[in-house]
Amino acid sequence: MIDACAMTDPFDIFETWFAEARETELNDSNAMTIATADASGQPSARMVLLKGHDRTGFVFYTNQESRKAQAIAENGKAAILFHWKSLRRQIRIEGVLLTVSDETADAYFATRSRDSQLGAWASDQSRPLDSRETFEARFAETQARFEGSDVPRPPHWSGYRLTPQRFEFWQDREHRLHERTIFLRDDDHWTKGMLYP
Ligand SMILES: Cc1cc2nc3c(=O)[nH]c(=O)nc-3n(C[C@H](O)[C@H](O)[C@H](O)COP(=O)(O)O)c2cc1C
Repeated sequence: MIDACAMTDPFDIFETWFAEARETELNDSNAMTIATADASGQPSARMVLLKGHDRTGFVFYTNQESRKAQAIAENGKAAILFHWKSLRRQIRIEGVLLTVSDETADAYFATRSRDSQLGAWASDQSRPLDSRETFEARFAETQARFEGSDVPRPPHWSGYRLTPQRFEFWQDREHRLHERTIFLRDDDHWTKGMLYP
């Protein structure tokens, strides 16, 4: 196991731990919680899948009329959280969310299965649904609408990139003497520190 305390770059630690998680987690090693807060300060959290990451940030895709998108429009600050049970590790990342470019969203949308593409059109994510049948009927209508042609990315569907301001790497240790390593951003420089567990 790689020790975060010994490493000096938060992106390198993320890369190393994520690679280990891909080997060890049963499924969805890229699943993360994204926590947002709306203009009133009300927090809400839900799982999404990490679909891209590099030194500019961490990207996920969603409906831009969803509850989370509404909160993000009101308050771009957010936190993401990975918990890899088999490794007994957690990574917390805080920062600001911005919508990805249309080119980035188009490129990712094109990699999705056709049914997932159709689902993005058929789902009014986060809005009330009277019955499962209504949703299935909308899906069938969407199938018919795009029969014989490529499915374009819906205008209300895109991605967000979280640009990190803070990382925390948490590693389980014996007797609950866990290890917490933090990195705080100051322009392009990262300051490393530790926290009591
Ligand atoms: C493991 C997992 C992965 C998920 N991935 C996504 C995702 O990548 N994008 C998304 O919009 N919803 C995803 N969801 C569904 C969300 O958790 C959530 O139900 C949905 O986005 C609506 O959230 P909202 O009403 O707060 O906007 C996922 C759920 C789970 C359990």
